[in-house]
Formats: sequence, C-alpha cells, structure tokens
Amino acid sequence: MTTTFQLNPKRAPKADSEGTCSAVAGMVAPSSTAIRLLKPTSLAEDGFELGHIEAVKSPAYQSIQEAEYGGFTPGRNAKNKLSRGTRFGAFSCDAFSWQDRGTYSLPAELNPEEGGAIREFDQISDEVLTHPTTEKVLRGVFRTWKFEKSSHQQLYQVQLSAIRYEPTIETPAWPSPVEPHQDMVDGAIVVLNLTENIVGGQSRIYDLDQRPLVQMDLAVGDILFVRDAEVLHQVTPLLLEPGPNWSAGRRSYRDVLLVRFQPVGR
Ligand SMILES: [Fe+2]
Repeated sequence: MTTTFQLNPKRAPKADSEGTCSAVAGMVAPSSTAIRLLKPTSLAEDGFELGHIEAVKSPAYQSIQEAEYGGFTPGRNAKNKLSRGTRFGAFSCDAFSWQDRGTYSLPAELNPEEGGAIREFDQISDEVLTHPTTEKVLRGVFRTWKFEKSSHQQLYQVQLSAIRYEPTIETPAWPSPVEPHQDMVDGAIVVLNLTENIVGGQSRIYDLDQRPLVQMDLAVGDILFVRDAEVLHQVTPLLLEPGPNWSAGRRSYRDVLLVRFQPVGR
C-alpha cells in the first residue's frame, strides 16, 4: 500500500494577551511525497513525520538560497568536506535573534568521524535568516513540534545547519555520520534544493534496534521531523549520475537546512 502521511490540523494562532509581541505562526502543509507505510504516522506515536512548505520553491527564494549555499566552504578542522553554514540563535516572544558564532562540536561518541573536534563553519547570512520564507520555515517547524510552552513562556535555543551535498564524478558526497544514528536532539531536515543528476540522498528511519522502518526520497519543500530518542535516522551517500542533459563542469547538488529547537534550561 502506498500512502502519504500528513500533519495534524494546526490550531489558529492565538492573540498575545499581553500585547507585547504579536504571534503570527507559520504553517506546514502536508507533503505529497509518496512513501510506503503500513499505517499513517504521527510525531507523537511514531517518532517521525513529514511535512511540506511550498514557498521554498519560489524562483526568488531559490536564487537567494542557491547563491548563499554556493558561497559556503567546508568546515575548518572538519574531516567531512561538505560545504556548510551554521547559525545559532534564540526564539523568544515569537521573535528570532541570532548570534555571531561559527564554532561547533559534538562529543566523539555522537560523531566518531570528527572525534569531538571543535569545527568552525561559515555563518548563514542575516539576509537569508530574516527572509520571510526562511522565517516561515522556522516558525512552521517550531509549531509542528507542539512544545508545551509557547515562546512567550519559554526561551528556545535555535541551531541551524545549512549543508550542500555536491558529489563529483570522482567523489560521492558523504553525509556525516553515514550510518544510522541519533543526534541527541530532536531535529527537522528541510530540503531547499535538488538538481538533476543526483542519485542517493534517501532519508531512512530505523527503530532503536536498527530495523529499517521507512525510506523516503524527500522533494524540495519537504520537511522530515525526527524525535531523536525514538528512532535512528540516516541519509544515504549521494552520487553524480550524468544523464542526457549533463555536461562536464555542470554542478549537481542537494541543499538542506537542519533546524533544531531546544528549550533553554530544560
Ligand atoms: Fe543526524
């Protein structure tokens, strides 16, 4: 049986009773990407869910996003050579604020490839961060998690990773880590761009005993939400597959944005 799974209907934004900052929440629409499932899924019951935001496909946003990702370089002191940008910030009272911080580190047990190294990455620009479509994506992701407390009651840390997977004829683009894993934090992966001539890059979800549950070819605009404590996740390596429209020197890539919200002090 082939089916699609959808987000639950969203509640209408509530007016701010204090009147200090108005709440205009983003919305995430159902994705039309077909995946093979035995039953519908939901974040609460299954640990993963798929949504979609069509606005990222607009030509104007695509050109801004492509220029931004095209300027990213591989992280300094990083073994993985994907071009990447990061940005850390806070979400409070329905507003984002962003820090100037380019360093990032994970414990070695979470990312053995990098061995706990302090890596330094390019920073995602203010222009992209404050673009209405980026904000729509971020607010939509926040809403979908259905946190107990609103951003008026609780401060949330926001962590963004913008990654370009760009294989060449000689070299696959390797996700990091490549095996099924957990990140120790809930996350959402948003596909912002996907060119022709790419093979691989499938998203896979496993149960905690490493049994595969589902594999998806995410489309542009799709968002995969993963509750980290409940499932393992993986992205398969990407290869360049020259086709009829391909010519030497033509770049092919898959651009994603990883979005993580964490209540501060929890
Ligand atoms: Fe991960």
